[in-house]
Amino acid sequence: MIELQGLTKRYGDRTAVDQLTFTVRPGVVTGFLGPNGAGKSTTMRILLGLDSPSSGDVRIDGKHYAQLSEPLKYIGALLDAKSVHGGRTAYNHLLCLAQSNRIPRRRVDEVLETVGLTAVAKKRSKGFSLGMGQRLGIAGALLGDPEILMFDEPVNGLDPEGIHWIRNLMKSLAAQGRTVFVSSHLMSEMALTAEHLIVIGRGRLLADTSMADFIAQNSRSYVRIRTPQVERLKDIMHQAGHPVVETGDGSFEIQDGDPAQLGELAAQHQLVLHELSPQRASLEEAFMQLTADSVEYHAGGAMGSGPSGVGALPNGGPEQPGQPVPAADGRDPQQPQWGAGWRNPGSGKGR
Ligand SMILES: Nc1ncnc2c1ncn2[C@@H]1O[C@H](COP(=O)(O)OP(=O)(O)OP(=O)(O)O)[C@@H](O)[C@H]1O
Ligand SMILES: [Mg+2]
Repeated sequence: MIELQGLTKRYGDRTAVDQLTFTVRPGVVTGFLGPNGAGKSTTMRILLGLDSPSSGDVRIDGKHYAQLSEPLKYIGALLDAKSVHGGRTAYNHLLCLAQSNRIPRRRVDEVLETVGLTAVAKKRSKGFSLGMGQRLGIAGALLGDPEILMFDEPVNGLDPEGIHWIRNLMKSLAAQGRTVFVSSHLMSEMALTAEHLIVIGRGRLLADTSMADFIAQNSRSYVRIRTPQVERLKDIMHQAGHPVVETGDGSFEIQDGDPAQLGELAAQHQLVLHELSPQRASLEEAFMQLTADSVEYHAGGAMGSGPSGVGALPNGGPEQPGQPVPAADGRDPQQPQWGAGWRNPGSGKGR
């Protein structure tokens, strides 16, 4: 379990994390969402003792990270896949981590196999592609067989097979009763992976809720109907107290309607239907709705004629993996950071 209590982090006059209080529980995948610069990576760094909070507290199973004598056995984390010694082979990188935490050597072979890097185990990691680096970082997180796993944008750079694999990996780790905390900008992936969501904007907590409730509360649901008997549809629905909204593509939307009830109604009036489908809003739509006021970094001019705002985004519209956007202070948000495994494990006070 991960517990944050009033966590605040200020960099000069900038408040990156603002009074965050939430708990990440075992047994489910918890998604950590927020626009660029919202404070996700900062929160994760503080959790691993790589940055100190200005105020507030964060605990891993009741302890501070520095109190864990062999931290990789408690929490495995992937913060930045590039924070490895490029001159070391994948095998030696993992072996160093393993030896610093008294993890048996055979685990190195096991996790290399798990992430699919056995064939390149003896290759130096500086020659790795982005996706291979991510896999190596995930291997490092799994090394100590920890109960708590934390991943900062783990799917960046992974190929479709890799994305599918990590989705199933995170779900199976949670199903084993572990705590899985993962950030991502890839909403379609998050919708398939996470059961619970923590959403932040400008460092503040915006939502701490189940995936289903989040979508239900921050977006609309409706039933889409197509019929060749347009006027008849309008009359019938109007009389039944269901306002019909014309979409312009030949279909009609009925807000908050019950599909079964609408189908019965149509049958009673012998109305021919070509479509009757409940429409569930996407996570992306709900996320953009909730965080609209928290987005700090907007793209400038449009390059094409694509949708440019919440209102313009069709339900289930195009989704793009998050791309790093330079911070206002010029800092590269993807700057290399020390990963969890690089902490000196000998400095803790023990469990
Ligand atoms: N070391 C630092 N020094 C100064 N400012 C920092 C530092 N680290 C983070 N920040 C600032 O804190 C804020 C939060 O950054 P953070 O990297 O935590 O955001 P994020 O939610 O992970 O964003 P992204 O989705 O782009 O990865 C940003 O405004 C960033 O510029
Ligand atoms: Mg980040």
